[in-house]
Amino acid sequence: MLKFFEVHEMKEQLGDVEAYLENTVGHLPSPTRERALNILRAGGKRVRPAFAIMTASMFGTEKEIIPLAAALEMIHMASLIHDDVVDQADTRRGKGTINALYGDGYAVYVGDYVLTRAIEIVRQQPNSNRLLQIMADLSIEMSLGEVEQLRSAFDIKQTVEDYNYRIDRKTALLMATSCQAAAVASGASEEEIDIFYKIGYNLGMEFQIRDDILDMRSNTKKLGKPAGSDLAHGIMTLPTILVLQQDFAEKEELLQLIENRFSGGQTEVERAIAIIIKQGGLEEASVYADGYLAQAKAYISQLPDFKRKKMLLSGVDYFKERTF
Ligand code: IPE
Ligand code: IPE
Ligand code: MG
Ligand code: MG
Repeated sequence: MLKFFEVHEMKEQLGDVEAYLENTVGHLPSPTRERALNILRAGGKRVRPAFAIMTASMFGTEKEIIPLAAALEMIHMASLIHDDVVDQADTRRGKGTINALYGDGYAVYVGDYVLTRAIEIVRQQPNSNRLLQIMADLSIEMSLGEVEQLRSAFDIKQTVEDYNYRIDRKTALLMATSCQAAAVASGASEEEIDIFYKIGYNLGMEFQIRDDILDMRSNTKKLGKPAGSDLAHGIMTLPTILVLQQDFAEKEELLQLIENRFSGGQTEVERAIAIIIKQGGLEEASVYADGYLAQAKAYISQLPDFKRKKMLLSGVDYFKERTF
């Protein structure tokens, strides 16, 4: 937990977020409490609260932002809890998922609870009307992104635009919102709010592309969640889409494997991933990710000097280097 940001001097603020989360979840009635603590204590990178805090540092509101930062992590947590039901994933953050340990029913309701509790926390923050509108828009779009991901499973005709539509909604908007909402709650100007939104958005796009690369490149132990699972579920991520735009010897084989939905099992998924890697799909996708990072950096550079500006820039480099 906090593996990266800890070494970057935000230990105290992220510790406050942790305490706030523990306290919020700790007050739940049993057994919802134990189920929710399960995923909370398993860790996670706490990227969204970290970016909310870095944003707030520009306005001197690092302390005041803690509840909102915690709420943003809870929205993320709820989305992971539900995502693991849909994907039937048994591992998250290196531990058993709620659905695997206690069943889908608990996971659906605990996810609902964590999400609505987050909204309740947001309601108590400064500029809450605007913040609630932002959260409502976010939830609508996140759901649309996830629905589209299900609908488009195993569809080999997808384009980069189709992919962008999905990851924009399921991931980038929450990262954008983490920066934007922190700016709104801190009383930032419209221009500042807009820049922070764009920083978060570009980081979010990069983050999901990197996640999709890691899904193919890494392993379950390192990731703490099932590796290779996107393609197995028919989710066409950027490496796959880019490779399918090329002509090459094994293309027909790859198409067959996907169209037959890997009827021969896991070895077929592994074969498909091997083809995509050999064809340079990961490197190509990485170029797109780098483009978003460069954008994020350009927006950060537009900001005046402030306490954590340097950290924000180095945090961006961590995005590129991350291995889990
Ligand atoms: C996982 O997010 C879901 C994606 C948006 C890729 P994180 O990689 O931030 O997950 P945790 O919080 O560290 O577990
Ligand atoms: C993140 O995408 C989706 C959410 C917003 C929960 P993934 O489906 O790639 O998430 P992981 O890889 O399971 O964390
Ligand atoms: Mg998933
Ligand atoms: Mg993933």
